[in-house]
Amino acid sequence: MAIGAVDYITKPISSLEVRARIRTHLRLKAAEDALREQNHLLEIKVAQRTKKIQEKQNEINGVQHEAILRLCLASELRDKETGMHIRRIQEYSALLGRKCSLPEDHVELLYLASAMHDLGKIGIPDSILLKPGKLDAEEWIIMKSHTVIGAQSLANSRFRLIQLAESIARSHHERWDGNGYPDGLKGVEIPMEARIVSIVDSFDAMLSQRPYKKAMPFDEVLEIIRSERALAFDPAIVDIFLANIAEFQSVATALSD
Ligand SMILES: [Fe+2]
Ligand SMILES: [Fe+2]
Repeated sequence: MAIGAVDYITKPISSLEVRARIRTHLRLKAAEDALREQNHLLEIKVAQRTKKIQEKQNEINGVQHEAILRLCLASELRDKETGMHIRRIQEYSALLGRKCSLPEDHVELLYLASAMHDLGKIGIPDSILLKPGKLDAEEWIIMKSHTVIGAQSLANSRFRLIQLAESIARSHHERWDGNGYPDGLKGVEIPMEARIVSIVDSFDAMLSQRPYKKAMPFDEVLEIIRSERALAFDPAIVDIFLANIAEFQSVATALSD
């Protein structure tokens, strides 16, 4: 039986019995074949259905990602920044998050959420947002409120992505030494993702040319980031950033305006 036999007949052999047994086994074999065939067809159907669901899901994800990006671009365009600023911030943030050993699914959230860091600029009047010269004290207070406005517009979501975006929007101008805004958080009180975005946002702003300022030379930018270690920025994250600077420079080159 162990080698695959399913039946046996005892001597003396009766031809009637043999025929009956053979008939039974042929029927059994036909039933087995039919079942196998049916299972195979079922597997194909399930695979096709799964593929369709997957495609639908990919499309939904794609639409979500694109909707986020386009919404952020709309707010950013008022600022006369190019859409490339947001694209670079996303790439830099994900890269730095990965170098800081964040798990890959969190890196993906960070990639999407970082795009929304300045969403609150949508609530800043043109006269301030687009002012060519320096802001006066009162204008500066209004300008700083883009952090709170952004956080308010993302508040109370049940989705991790939007919760993360809220915390980044609120805290990306906090400083490690506690002298940032809007809450004056200090050190690790500042959410880690906001500490990451804070570094790459400053890096990108300094490297970028704006209507009111020239782009700063690369070495000078690195010098400033190094000098702000443990002042504006988390020292450990600055070290990781500088240790991998070549990769950030590649992103800057690939996504230049
Ligand atoms: Fe900002
Ligand atoms: Fe920014």
